[in-house]
Amino acid sequence: MNLLLLFTMLVLGTTSGLDYNYDNSRICKTLTDPNTDEPFLECMCENRENFTVDSIIDFSITRIIIKGCGDVRIPFASLTNLKLAEIEFVDLNRLTILPFALSAVQGVSALKISDVAELNIIQHAFVGLYNIDQFIIRNVTASTVMKDAFSAISTVNQFLIEDCIFEKVQQFGFAIQNITNFNAINTEFHAMENYSLMLHNTKNVVFESCVFHETQNGSFMFSFVDSVYYKNCHFGEIETTAFHSNPLNVFSITDSYIENLKPDAFGGLDLQEIFVFTDNTIDITYETSFISIFTPQYSELDMKYCCNTFTCDCNIFWMWSLKDLDKNNTMLEESYCIGKKQKPLTIYKPIMDSYNNCMTLELKSPPKKQSVEANKITTDCRNNDCLLNDVASVGWKNRFAFRTLLCILIIIKLL
Ligand SMILES: *[C@@H]1O[C@H](CO)[C@@H](O)[C@H](O)[C@H]1NC(C)=O
Ligand SMILES: *[C@@H]1O[C@H](CO)[C@@H](O)[C@H](O)[C@H]1NC(C)=O
Ligand SMILES: *[C@@H]1O[C@H](CO)[C@@H](O)[C@H](O)[C@H]1NC(C)=O
Ligand SMILES: *[C@@H]1O[C@H](CO)[C@@H](O)[C@H](O)[C@H]1NC(C)=O
Ligand SMILES: *[C@@H]1O[C@H](CO)[C@@H](O)[C@H](O)[C@H]1NC(C)=O
Ligand SMILES: *[C@@H]1O[C@H](CO)[C@@H](O)[C@H](O)[C@H]1NC(C)=O
Repeated sequence: MNLLLLFTMLVLGTTSGLDYNYDNSRICKTLTDPNTDEPFLECMCENRENFTVDSIIDFSITRIIIKGCGDVRIPFASLTNLKLAEIEFVDLNRLTILPFALSAVQGVSALKISDVAELNIIQHAFVGLYNIDQFIIRNVTASTVMKDAFSAISTVNQFLIEDCIFEKVQQFGFAIQNITNFNAINTEFHAMENYSLMLHNTKNVVFESCVFHETQNGSFMFSFVDSVYYKNCHFGEIETTAFHSNPLNVFSITDSYIENLKPDAFGGLDLQEIFVFTDNTIDITYETSFISIFTPQYSELDMKYCCNTFTCDCNIFWMWSLKDLDKNNTMLEESYCIGKKQKPLTIYKPIMDSYNNCMTLELKSPPKKQSVEANKITTDCRNNDCLLNDVASVGWKNRFAFRTLLCILIIIKLL
């Protein structure tokens, strides 16, 4: 036991360590696992102490657990070359991992970072970390995922991010390769710079109940990825060509809410087999939002488009001129108005003025002749949002004039 403690030498090699270091040997102890007889390092804090983990040169250590502390720093090369089966950072106020801290650490069965109020991964922190069965990040907040924070990690069986909040993800924040399953669950990625999520040579990518506020051209880069699923997610803006890929078999967005689907949002994708876009709600779309998906180029693609709801106003009048989603359907037949899921868009028709600007959407065959006017009003404009929509769309002047006329008529009638 004493020998092992001796082996865990405390090397105070890093710069900032001294001023803020707590007595490492009081917190970190090398113990022996009674079952396996293997030594492991345990750093348990009692009073949220701040400390810097000293370099470990006892190569027989197979497990490290750091728990219940204040500010913890893992300095440059401190864990280099260890044959660690398990690494666990749990319940910390702040965790800072400095560059190359875990270089040449390989064959890890589980690396867990959980319950960290402020995660601060410095550029190249994980360079040289490879061959990991499970990489788990859970209940962690990071104000910025810096450039190259989780980059150069390779060969991971399961990469799981759960219940986390990342305010800003910089370029190459997550640049990982050779992954079997990449899952992000219930996690917020507020602002994603271009190339912030770059997955290479990956089998399955699943985002479930995630939030993405802002994206950019190329925020999501998938190279040699088999399938990508977004389920029950919330997107603020999906920027033009936000998703990039080389041949990708499956791309799917289902049960999600999209505030603004920018023109040619899917333009960066190269799809091989299946495109799924079902049960989504979209506030703002453009005539060209889907342009590179609904093209003859993709006539062989298995297109699963169904049951999406849109804000029904003149902003979607272009859907009426879109033909044949596949051999049997049009986009119109498979789309609905927000709040009226039982009614497909086909029951409406856009009314154009003489300049071919859309004036309103009108019910095709209103039940009673007298209620035509009323229908126009209800489908066209029922709340304050509608004025904004009107202003944003072409031909609003005409509609405005039309509505004024309508109001005057009604007033005259009332009088
Ligand atoms: C740990 O460091 C933080 C600042 O990073 C400080 O506010 C806190 O008081 C320190 N805690 C201890 C126990 O020294
Ligand atoms: C999540 O982590 C925070 C510390 O950042 C902790 O206070 C909280 O209890 C954790 N939540 C769960 C559900 O474990
Ligand atoms: C990733 O996997 C491929 C083969 O699937 C292999 O050739 C390549 O060396 C791996 N890359 C790394 C960094 O392990
Ligand atoms: C990526 O973003 C950076 C700044 O955020 C910008 O300078 C660069 O031009 C962008 N690259 C592409 C390809 O859009
Ligand atoms: C998006 O970025 C790519 C480079 O990655 C560039 O070629 C393309 O022009 C950009 N598209 C837009 C719409 O900015
Ligand atoms: C179109 O309809 C035909 C027969 O009605 C059916 O066999 C085929 O599977 C349908 N295609 C799609 C894409 O739904």
